[in-house]
Amino acid sequence: MADNVRIYEVGPRDGLQNEKAPISTDDKLEFIGLLADAGLREIEATSFVSPTAIPQLADADELMRRLERRAGVRHPVLVPNERGLERAEAAGVEAVAVFTAASEQFTRANINMTITESIAAFRPVIERAHERGWWSRGYVSTAFGCPYQGEVGEAAVVGVARQLFELGVDEVSIGDTIGVAGPADVRRVVTALLHAGIDAERLAMHFHDTRGTALANVTAALDLGIRCFDSSTGGTGGCPYAPGAAGNLATEDLVYLLDREGMTHGVDLDGVLAAARHISEVLGRALSTKVGQAGGWRPAGA
Ligand code: HMG
Ligand code: MG
Repeated sequence: MADNVRIYEVGPRDGLQNEKAPISTDDKLEFIGLLADAGLREIEATSFVSPTAIPQLADADELMRRLERRAGVRHPVLVPNERGLERAEAAGVEAVAVFTAASEQFTRANINMTITESIAAFRPVIERAHERGWWSRGYVSTAFGCPYQGEVGEAAVVGVARQLFELGVDEVSIGDTIGVAGPADVRRVVTALLHAGIDAERLAMHFHDTRGTALANVTAALDLGIRCFDSSTGGTGGCPYAPGAAGNLATEDLVYLLDREGMTHGVDLDGVLAAARHISEVLGRALSTKVGQAGGWRPAGA
């Protein structure tokens, strides 16, 4: 099985979307630049959503216009509807992500649509992506539990993932939005997706570390052949429409684990830590991630 892993950075988007104090576009651009310096090649930059829904990302148009594009670095943006598509296209994006969920109540709270309506709203977005040659991803949130409905069955996750693939997305990311899953849940959901005929190479896992299970969940998914993980440098993150959600799996913790597992990923831990220090200074909070606090490990004598 391949030992190369893709690390899909969500810090500038998921990491910042729930921060109340305004962060300047300059500070966001510097953060994204430091992430690219660290070797990250997929950096979710922002969202073209309603500025009322997510005020922190209301500068998406300016940010994407000013963002320095580097060869080999992809900057996906979240797009929920045709209005978001118009804005994203005008800002010159090259990769888009649509987002729905495995539970109706979260979908309603988050994007004011039913799951079926969300798939219909995404159709023109993915059609445009195909016309323009943009890369595309779909998210299935609340795949392991919903803040409003409780437990979520794997059949619902498989059903929504299938609908996203039928739209033509390149990849589907399976989200533990409120961080309730343990490794047995990951095995149950990922096995169901694989048994449904979905290729492991077209799946990503998106863990929030609310209860400290994210790294254990990564190892469970690695064992099943998953090779793409979403993470946020500095461990920030959360969704205002997912009460109880806390930070994403931290990129620095993920990089350290993958290094010890002997997996290749092209990301430099010291570079990630530099980006993590930048964002923690911007937010005015000390870094709370494990590897952010301890640093990497250079064994004595090495
Ligand atoms: P709505 O209120 O139903 O939308 O919101 P609407 O179509 O009725 O429009 C209402 C107003 O918003 C109108 O303005 C529209 O023009 C405007 P008005 O005429 O009243 O002046 N509007 C927009 N403006 C800018 N850009 C747009 C846009 N769309 C409408 N794209 C909507 C529906 C989807 C827009 C809203 O609910 C929304 O933006 N939701 C986004 C919520 C969000 O971003 N959540 C966080 C991301 S998901 C997540 O974090 C989970 C994930 O990380 C995975 C995981 O952890 O599981 C991905
Ligand atoms: Mg998330």
